Amino acid sequence: MAADLIVGIQWGDEGKGKIVDLLAQQYDIVCRYQGGHNAGHTIVVDGKTIALHLIPSGILNPKATNIIGNGVVVSPEALLKEMEQFEDLDGRLLISDKAHLIFKYHEQIDRAKERLRGKNAIGTTGRGIGPAYSDKVSRQGHRIGELRDIDTLLAKIIDYFKANEAYFKALGITPPKEEELRTELELYRQKLLPFVVDATNYLWENMEQGEHKILLEGAQGTMLDIDHGTYPYVTSSNTIAAGACTGLGLAPKDIGKVTGIAKAYCTRVGNGPFPTEELGPLGDRLREQGHEFGTTTGRPRRCGWFDAVAAKYACRLNGCDELALMKLDVLDGFEKIKVATAYEYEGERIDYVPSDLENVTPVYVEFDGWDKVEGIKRWDDLPIEAQRYIQALEDLTQTKIGIVSTSPDRADTIIRK
Ligand code: IMP
Repeated sequence: MAADLIVGIQWGDEGKGKIVDLLAQQYDIVCRYQGGHNAGHTIVVDGKTIALHLIPSGILNPKATNIIGNGVVVSPEALLKEMEQFEDLDGRLLISDKAHLIFKYHEQIDRAKERLRGKNAIGTTGRGIGPAYSDKVSRQGHRIGELRDIDTLLAKIIDYFKANEAYFKALGITPPKEEELRTELELYRQKLLPFVVDATNYLWENMEQGEHKILLEGAQGTMLDIDHGTYPYVTSSNTIAAGACTGLGLAPKDIGKVTGIAKAYCTRVGNGPFPTEELGPLGDRLREQGHEFGTTTGRPRRCGWFDAVAAKYACRLNGCDELALMKLDVLDGFEKIKVATAYEYEGERIDYVPSDLENVTPVYVEFDGWDKVEGIKRWDDLPIEAQRYIQALEDLTQTKIGIVSTSPDRADTIIRK
């Protein structure tokens, strides 16, 4: 049985948490395939607030198995903290032995490099994501499976510090003390190794048996993809659907239905091009009405209008079968709502995303706003203006909008036939 996939089609924070939480109830296995604890969402269950950064959202379904795939970079410290929120994870959490580790020094490198970039800083989350992926690609990273042999792992880390002494000195980073590092690794070995498996094999076996439904949960968003996003202002992994193949060991034909998640407007955290950004009071209003502050870093998000050019590009890149349109209620009370339908670029009007997104000017179409959609659960109850807005987005992105969310509450969701 093929696995279904959820992917953000903007710059992250599209509201994937609510959809995955909603869908996770129907799936037996939920997998993360890229990113690390730079991602994050908070879910309230029975009055208890649960913050998820690394553990897939299926953890809220007591019957689901959750997999952290090989494409994820794992901070053992962050993972252990997250695990403390749950009583019994036995058999409910599995970690690929090929997932790479994020150590404290990766975070230190991340922050030091951001300081050095000065006004050209990427605006990373400071979680060590880029340095951990860099080490992986330059073949000097460490996989979680290496915790099986602490002595060898420790020796490799010490050697790595020796080989890169000048580099660490230049960044002002002091090497970890051997005994402290050993204690830390020992703790990770004890606490995490019981969860470490060959996740790819596990998935293949389940797919062959065909008894369990599998959901693949993307983190961040398409426009932050290392190859297809707004490079260099991106994260360091393939956030698009294809990332699930490398990040879990699946073949393209193992992917079934792809649902793209989009907000009814647009946000971005960190620096980099954002053509439809609204810098004036309307942007502030979107931020306030949408509570647009980062879950991981608390930073205010940049806000603007729905960019249908970028969304169409993302739908094509991911092969989206349908879209879930989130936070429609945030647009309640706006008199006019703008959507970018094309860009002006080098004196021409274009309807595609050039690699140099910095230099486009959006061409807008204005839609009439509506009073209130908050809490609406049926399509027919939506104001006609909201229906027209959604239908226009479908036409512009050439993708059906199958789900519309009208409040953070799980119940306030329109599922269209
Ligand atoms: P990094 O992933 O921490 O290296 O950050 C690189 C860029 O991706 C920065 O602009 C971050 O703000 C952005 N980013 C990383 N994770 C997320 C996320 O989960 N949501 C939104 N933006 C993110």
